[in-house]
Amino acid sequence: MNFNDLTLDEARRSPGNKWNRFDSDVIPSWVADMDFPVAKPIRDFIIDQGMRGDLKYTGDTSDTSVVDVFAERMLSKYGWNISSQDVDQMIDIVQGIYIAISVFCEPNDEVIINTPMYFPILQACRDLGRRMLFNPLVKQKNRWEIDFDQLEAKITERTKLLMLVNPHNPSGRVFTRTELQQFADIALRHNLYVVADEIHCDLLFSDGGTHIPFASLGKDIANRTVTFNSATKSHNLGGVRCAIVHFGSDDVRKRFESISPRLRGGRNVVGNIATRIAWQQCSDWLSNVMIYLEENRNHMQRQLNILMPDIKHIPNQATFLAWLDCSALNLGEDPFAFFLREARVAFSAGPTFGPEGENHIRLNFATSRQILDEKLNRMAHAINQR
Ligand SMILES: Cc1ncc(COP(=O)(O)O)c(C=O)c1O
Repeated sequence: MNFNDLTLDEARRSPGNKWNRFDSDVIPSWVADMDFPVAKPIRDFIIDQGMRGDLKYTGDTSDTSVVDVFAERMLSKYGWNISSQDVDQMIDIVQGIYIAISVFCEPNDEVIINTPMYFPILQACRDLGRRMLFNPLVKQKNRWEIDFDQLEAKITERTKLLMLVNPHNPSGRVFTRTELQQFADIALRHNLYVVADEIHCDLLFSDGGTHIPFASLGKDIANRTVTFNSATKSHNLGGVRCAIVHFGSDDVRKRFESISPRLRGGRNVVGNIATRIAWQQCSDWLSNVMIYLEENRNHMQRQLNILMPDIKHIPNQATFLAWLDCSALNLGEDPFAFFLREARVAFSAGPTFGPEGENHIRLNFATSRQILDEKLNRMAHAINQR
């Protein structure tokens, strides 16, 4: 498919949450779905499965193929040598995060969150009655960084868990080996567990460096780490529900599995096979998407500079989400509300990602250039009309 071809009218026919949550004149730019159709091999499989009318329970645990493919992929792409015995399949990473928070800390224990951070993680801490210690990312040399001294200074005897999202959502930072090692050293010094959410790892741009799986840093830190991944972001499979969990040690696995399998959720045969096909047969599709997304990122940056120089953006190294600082616009209200009302564009609201999200929005640029331009033009017009 030529990603450029997608028109607003076509995109609006999508049945999912993204295009239906807001009024029909609003352009959605929030949830992390791409507007592009999935790769042909996945479409062919789903059509075939539907034609045969075969949608039974997955049920048993004997089909480990998606787990085997994940382990092979981690080795071939990232040099992370893991056994598929230490990997399991689930339906949903967010559900996995809720489980991890439940088993690695008690109510009122503390979880360290590098804010802004993917908001369901904050919601999970709130829902489960765990306290959050916010460690704001800092802007350094045109990139977002973790302040490790500040992070370590926050740790108390009630701190049990570090949340790592790498590549980071919403900043798009890809943390370096040195940074990840600093993170690991702190976890080891203070006996903390780590949740590593690496769902965006296949979406690095040409200037994005290298993805390093956190648990690949060494056995000591792997012992304390649970890693989540999936093909959901990279292959646009949010609707088919399949996630992967890697246990860095038996201790981590035992804790995780102390929650009943019924609560951990079932399996999804369509999601599992679609994920396997994505990882085995769709690398050309992904390469083409990445070229297009990088052009979109650069185009968006240029247009922001020309049309809305007061909106600041540190170019993201990975993923199709841009974290836009609207402080200098002095809107006097949450920019999400302003742009929804005045531009009829629905972004993700910054404050949901933590206190540092005030005056920010998260823009999803995984769409055709014409739809991206329409969003940017609407934004510029709304700003100029104030
Ligand atoms: C960092 C991160 N983790 C998890 C998810 C969602 O994963 P799942 O759909 O498997 O719950 C997203 C989706 O945007 C994400 O950005």
